[in-house]
Amino acid sequence: MGTTELSQAELAELGCKGEFPGPRSRTVRQKIEAIAWSGIDYSAIPFVLKAKRGSYLFDIDGNTYIDMVTGWGSSPLGIGDERLLEPTIAALAQYGTEISDYVASEPVLALAEKLVEVSPASLTRVEFDISGTESVEMSMRLMRGKAERPFILSFFGQYHGESAGALGLGSQLAHEARYVRELAPGYIHVPYPEPYRCPFHRSERCDGLCVIDYIKEYILGYYSTADRIAGVIIEPVAGEAGVWIPPDPFWPALVELCQEHEWLLCADEVQSGIGRTGKMFAVEHWNVQPDLMCLAKSLSAGTMPIGATLGTEEVMGSTELYLGGTFAWTPAACVAALRGIDLIKSDNLLGHVGDLEQLLLERMGRWPAKYELVGDVRIKGLYIAVEFVADKDSKRRIPDFARRVHARSVRGGVAGIYIPGMSLLRWLPALNMSRETIEKAMDILEDSIVIESRQGL
Ligand SMILES: Cc1ncc(COP(=O)(O)O)c(C=O)c1O
Repeated sequence: MGTTELSQAELAELGCKGEFPGPRSRTVRQKIEAIAWSGIDYSAIPFVLKAKRGSYLFDIDGNTYIDMVTGWGSSPLGIGDERLLEPTIAALAQYGTEISDYVASEPVLALAEKLVEVSPASLTRVEFDISGTESVEMSMRLMRGKAERPFILSFFGQYHGESAGALGLGSQLAHEARYVRELAPGYIHVPYPEPYRCPFHRSERCDGLCVIDYIKEYILGYYSTADRIAGVIIEPVAGEAGVWIPPDPFWPALVELCQEHEWLLCADEVQSGIGRTGKMFAVEHWNVQPDLMCLAKSLSAGTMPIGATLGTEEVMGSTELYLGGTFAWTPAACVAALRGIDLIKSDNLLGHVGDLEQLLLERMGRWPAKYELVGDVRIKGLYIAVEFVADKDSKRRIPDFARRVHARSVRGGVAGIYIPGMSLLRWLPALNMSRETIEKAMDILEDSIVIESRQGL
């Protein structure tokens, strides 16, 4: 699959058998922690990286781990594919950096055309960004500019970035928006249609229509008239929240509501886009045609920063807004993004993601029935979350248990994602991870759950 695999013997040696983290990692971390801002937190991944290859991480103490972080979902092809690196490095040598909204180059055109070709048919124009945060910011300006209305409707639990605007729009965890929330008017937050925990406690598995009813009855009844709302920004699958997958009936109801009130619909596909869910874009699962779409992360194919905002003719075809910036769409980043999309297609990685999804569902999908403390397993393509609860009835969150399982599985050789305070573990593997590697990762995680469950809460 274009990645470099480990031998069976090497796979058996994954993780750290001795002191963890090793002495070299400990020293480097301590020095970084002494010089960086005090809020930096390496506790979830305590080792220090030496190199990456394919789907593996190597630390400076000689240990190897399966990479389920992939630069927070930004390396869909793993690391080291020459078919990607060679043209990207050549483009860097040829163009250096360039401000692509001031000086044009051919890679910019090629990527813009490719994105319009592969994205939902409604999206015919592109705006150049450097990150997901920037794309979200630009989307909000475009929405407000087009609609000439102030409010943007958003969903609790979503993450959109770290700038003041994106933090105000987002609401992953209450403490993350401290010092911003009170200064960020112009957003209306409503519950996300999360099937495992119906926000309105209507049913065992929520169909999402309760959220639509809430918007109609409460937001439009008591909070704001519809003509003050520019549009809706939604993560089609909410990643940071714990891979919340909206139920099918939610989507047509949301689209209908947007059409009724002339609200623009923006899909934040920064994390769910470029193949993560088994389709190029997550909205394709529900045949949704958004007015705007935010991309970043995997768009870089694991090389250099790039983001993009796609828009309809109506939203982007007659705007006077100045958007873009110094490092947005450097020619080399465009070459990398273009090559990344081509490789995802030519290597049939979407098909491979579908195969791995089945493998994961067959095994991990059984864990809630098998293990008392596993409440839910949510998998859409290679968007993967395991949620832990004290018991199946109360669904009480047990973040410390999640932390313990995570710590044990990292030490055992799987570097995944754990956010302090959340009762979840997440995996964002490369789209070309091998079956053997993902099986091995499940072995290690399952062992960790069994051992920590034995030890109790
Ligand atoms: C859905 C979503 N939107 C926006 C962002 C922000 O992207 P970036 O970190 O590239 O600024 C992220 C990052 O995790 C994300 O998951």
